[in-house]
Amino acid sequence: MAEKILQIRFQHFEAVNELSIEDSKLIKEAFDACLSAYAPYSAFPVGAAIILEDDSIITGTNQENASYPCGICAERTALYTYSALRKTSRIMSMAVCCSRLYPNEWPASPCGLCRQVITEFEQNNSGPIRILLGHPQGQIITFDSASTLLPFGFSSKDLSR
Ligand code: THU
Repeated sequence: MAEKILQIRFQHFEAVNELSIEDSKLIKEAFDACLSAYAPYSAFPVGAAIILEDDSIITGTNQENASYPCGICAERTALYTYSALRKTSRIMSMAVCCSRLYPNEWPASPCGLCRQVITEFEQNNSGPIRILLGHPQGQIITFDSASTLLPFGFSSKDLSR
């Protein structure tokens, strides 16, 4: 038996003004997107914004339903929009922000379903997708690759016979 330890590398910023102009713009896009969330049941609006290599930005928000499982998170709305629009330009980064006064110290981070989906988009992307998580009070954490958020994840490689 060999016990192993997995380390996760991420960057921590105290405020948006510590980010590059491009990253701070993407965080703002994600915050602003929260306005179009449909979250009457959770009262927890979330916005996601992805920036492509051609500099275009696609946003997504959580969309809920009286039949709760029908709802979808902001991250998947943004990625499925990218796919539905048949975009081919590489995805560079995704910012995720929630808008209400959030009680936890760390920014909210993508749920397990979204981690699974973001990781598959990353595998089909020609390079890593950076993840930027913004806290309503200003602090930000970033990851160089979506795969960092899903260690030991399941992928299409596991299906090959
Ligand atoms: N939600 C997101 O959209 N993204 C996340 O990263 C976490 C959770 C949504 C799902 C649901 O509409 C609401 O937030 C509360 O869970």
